[in-house]
Amino acid sequence: MPPTEDLKNVPRHIAIIMDGNGRWAKERGLPRTEGHRQGAETVRRVSEGCNELGVEFLTLYAFSSENWKRPKREVDALMKLLELFLRQKTPEMQEQNIRLQAIGRLHDLPESCQAQLHRSIESTSQNTGLTLILALSYGGREEIVDGVKSLIESVERGHLDKGMIDIDVFGKHLYTRYYPDPDLLIRTSGEMRLSNFLLWQLSYTEFFITEKFWPDFGKDDLVEAVRAYGKRHRRFGAV
Ligand code: IPE
Ligand code: IPE
Ligand code: MG
Repeated sequence: MPPTEDLKNVPRHIAIIMDGNGRWAKERGLPRTEGHRQGAETVRRVSEGCNELGVEFLTLYAFSSENWKRPKREVDALMKLLELFLRQKTPEMQEQNIRLQAIGRLHDLPESCQAQLHRSIESTSQNTGLTLILALSYGGREEIVDGVKSLIESVERGHLDKGMIDIDVFGKHLYTRYYPDPDLLIRTSGEMRLSNFLLWQLSYTEFFITEKFWPDFGKDDLVEAVRAYGKRHRRFGAV
């Protein structure tokens, strides 16, 4: 870990669009899946870094609703990798006191993946350090649609009065209801778009975009992003 004594305002919640695994591999003449394998190592490194910095929540965009459109071979490899990652890294999360959570349409994932995910979530549920939230089969628009359906259900069952619906109530019907909004969003590999990530929650989040590909992103880059965040003046629309 690089020096961090000068860091002020460590964000409570960091969200990351982990991008560029494929390009990282291509540059080296390797298959895209090798990029994903290296990317999983970065997840380990960055979770550990966030935990050390005292970040409370880290949300990682691991697989989007749109990523199902990729060739079946790549999707299968990613699902296998996810399962392997969870199986291998859960003991490490235990040691580091990291609590695992997941958001997205998790029932879309292969059965064995879901089972492993639930085992990992369950076994880390009592941990009190960093909360690591994996966004899996996640789409921001899908989440809003699911939230609307859940709201309508509550109204129909008589648990909620239509007149009571406001921003806070709506937020309680999203996948992220247990977490504060992200303070800092990082996207690797230089792309300047949200790609359907946390559309509701990123309203007032600070952005940090780096040209580095995700497999090359290190703790020093994390610290650089947090340092840049510390210099931002967040106004939330006020003066
Ligand atoms: C991010 O890397 C990982 C996932 C989206 C699963 P990409 O696979 O998007 O890599 P690039 O953007 O093609 O380089
Ligand atoms: C966003 O990356 C999704 C994840 C990081 C999981 P993509 O590579 O899928 O996004 P686009 O296609 O470049 O917008
Ligand atoms: Mg990409």
